[in-house]
Formats: sequence, C-alpha cells, structure tokens
Amino acid sequence: MKSGNEEGYRESAKAQGFEVVKLSESVTIILGDCLMVMPVDCSAVITDQPYGTGWIRGGGKKAGDFSRRLERSDWDVFSLAWMEKAPARVAAFCPIQGIWEMCMRLKKPHILKYRKTNPAPFGSDCEPIVSSHSITGEWEKTAYNGDNPLHPCQKPINLLVWLVNGLTSIGDSVCDPFMGSGTTGVACIRTGRKFIGIERDPVHFATARARLERELAQPHLPALCPAAVTSAEQDEFPTTGNQ
Ligand SMILES: C[S@@+](CC[C@H](N)C(=O)[O-])C[C@H]1O[C@@H](n2cnc3c(N)ncnc32)[C@H](O)[C@@H]1O
Repeated sequence: MKSGNEEGYRESAKAQGFEVVKLSESVTIILGDCLMVMPVDCSAVITDQPYGTGWIRGGGKKAGDFSRRLERSDWDVFSLAWMEKAPARVAAFCPIQGIWEMCMRLKKPHILKYRKTNPAPFGSDCEPIVSSHSITGEWEKTAYNGDNPLHPCQKPINLLVWLVNGLTSIGDSVCDPFMGSGTTGVACIRTGRKFIGIERDPVHFATARARLERELAQPHLPALCPAAVTSAEQDEFPTTGNQ
C-alpha cells in the first residue's frame, strides 16, 4: 500500500474538485483523473487500461457476424504512469506491444491469458494480462467476447472474478483506476472485496454507478460462492449466456 490513511485519498480527491461517491461501506467510486487521485489505499490494482490502439469492437451475435470501428477516442492513450502510484500487487490487460514495458516495471512479472471464444475474424483469440503475481491453478481464462452494451471495451464479469479471486483475498480492497462501466467493481462485490473505482468520463461514470448500485441491491453470499453468476448478469446479457 502506498498511501497512509484510508480517508486520505477521498479527501484529496474532493479537494481537487472530483466527485467522490461512497455507494456502500465497501464501494467508493470517483469521477476524475486516476493519475491525480492515486495512490489510494488498496491491496491491489486490477485494471483494463486504455490500449492506445484506437480499436473499438462493435460486437456480433453469431459466428462470422461482426462489426468493427476504428475510433481514436481522447481517452485511449497507452501509458503506464499509473503503475508509479500503484501497490506491488497489480494485474492489467495489456496491448501486445506494451507487454515488455509493463513487465520491466515488475519484479517478477507473469503473463496470464484471456482466451476469447469468439474472436473477430482474423483477430487475435487471446489478450494478454500482465500480473505481478501468479494465479494458482489456471493461468488462462476462456470467456465469451461478445456483447458490450455498457462500454465499448466492456470485459466479461467472470474474467474479472477470476483475476480478483486469484490476486486477492476476501476483505481485501481492489482499485480499478480505469473503471469504465465498473466490471471490476461487480466482480469485487460478488467476491467479497472492497472496491475503489476511478473513471474520468462522466457518461461511463454514470453507467458504472447505476450498474454497481444494481449489483449492491442483489443478495450476495460471497464467502460461500465467490464466483457465482447472478441473475443480474443474465439480465445484462440476455441473448448470449455470457460466461
Ligand atoms: C478500456 S476502458 C475500461 C472498460 C472496463 N474494463 C469495462 O469493462 O467497462 C478504460 C477506461 O478508462 C477511462 N480512462 C482513461 N484515462 C483515464 C484516466 N486518466 N483516469 C480515469 N479514467 C480514465 C476511459 O474513459 C475508459 O472508460
């Protein structure tokens, strides 16, 4: 952990004019630039950082049916500056061209894999995840790479549940400085971890907030079934049975 007291980062974020919303005792989200908010008190950073590629997938329902757009959004800049402000325990999705740079910043890097069940035609079926620690058991997770109704880069929930379970313990706190639609937060709620999410886009922030509020309203028994897929997830992906 790099910061001292638990309230410190919240107070500092508020002082900088960022909106800080405490959704529950264990979930706080901040509308702001993560580089100005970090470090925060957390056991691990688990995140899906911008890749800087400009590629945003459009989705597709059936094999061979896909659409893709090339957009260079202003947030889509690959930079590892956040790692300077992160604790020693980190895991981040990483573009292939950024793996070496990210590994060089870690004492003992591990490369995990997100294996996609339905990659875009001629696209890669595998996305790397660079981690400071190994994950016991599987180091590769297969997950449906389909609908992304909440964010153009939305990740499957169970992929994040796998990372959260692998890198942290129940009761730990996880920060996602590039929160997007809040997928890491949903995984944390389902697995009994505390969550701090930071997002600088007000539209994505509002999406994440509504999604996390819905998730917190669900009954959870995290200690008994940490990786359970709840009815809320079925509702989000009614046509696909997202894994
Ligand atoms: C790849 S997306 C994350 C998507 C997320 N995994 C999901 O499932 O919805 C990265 C997000 O980081 C946000 N972002 C980019 N730079 C940021 C910064 N400096 N501080 C906070 N958020 C930032 C973008 O607005 C974008 O929503």
